Amino acid sequence: MIADRLIAHRGCALLRPENTLEAMRVTADLGVPWVEIDANLLGDGTAIMFHDDYLDRLTNGSGPLAACNWQDVATLDVGSHFSTEYSAERIPRLDDAVALIDELRLGLNLEIKLYPHYAVADILPPVVAVLEKSWSRFDNLIISSFSTEALRALRALQPDWQLGQLWERIPADWAMLAEELGLVSIHCDYRYLDVATIAAIKAAGLDLYCYTVNDPTAGQVLLKAGVDGLITDNPLLFNLQD
Ligand code: G3P
Ligand code: MG
Repeated sequence: MIADRLIAHRGCALLRPENTLEAMRVTADLGVPWVEIDANLLGDGTAIMFHDDYLDRLTNGSGPLAACNWQDVATLDVGSHFSTEYSAERIPRLDDAVALIDELRLGLNLEIKLYPHYAVADILPPVVAVLEKSWSRFDNLIISSFSTEALRALRALQPDWQLGQLWERIPADWAMLAEELGLVSIHCDYRYLDVATIAAIKAAGLDLYCYTVNDPTAGQVLLKAGVDGLITDNPLLFNLQD
């Protein structure tokens, strides 16, 4: 079934305010098996579920996350940018988000964001601590990042965790890096993917996930070509019974 191959991007970002607890719940309600979320950091070291490095686009606050502590952001409205119906949504602490996703029995693709205000050594310890405390099903967890440096450091800390490299365009030396980091998967922008690369990645025994697939026709073509999963903002665009 196509539903089994979907990963809800930031929850379901076209159905609920992105990266909110409500978005996690709707993902589970729809029967979508996996969710993708963004792990980010406040200046006081609190790990949160939030995409951007500034508050402005998604909340009624402003400025960089790096200038905030938890108390500064705890009461901000992270739902009204989507619809006033969701004005009660708050930025989730990463531990609360991970605990809920675990309770909902969803698979988790946790993307580690690494914005210029931070170093790998800032964000990795709080994210690892949250997962060790609040996640129970490590076969159902893939940690991805555009930052190869973050994945390399994580691999040194956690030899058994499933890691996936994110690229907009997959570079020519992907196989070398996959071997070095012990990757289970490659995640890429589907618009720059070609059939030869799909075949090579599958032949190498890796899983391949594409973002952000909101076009069901393109999604079907990708799945037929061998892509393992589609990261989408709206699972309802697909025929979930197929
Ligand atoms: O993990 C896939 C996708 O989420 C990467 O881009 O900017 O939506 O986090 P972005
Ligand atoms: Mg993401």
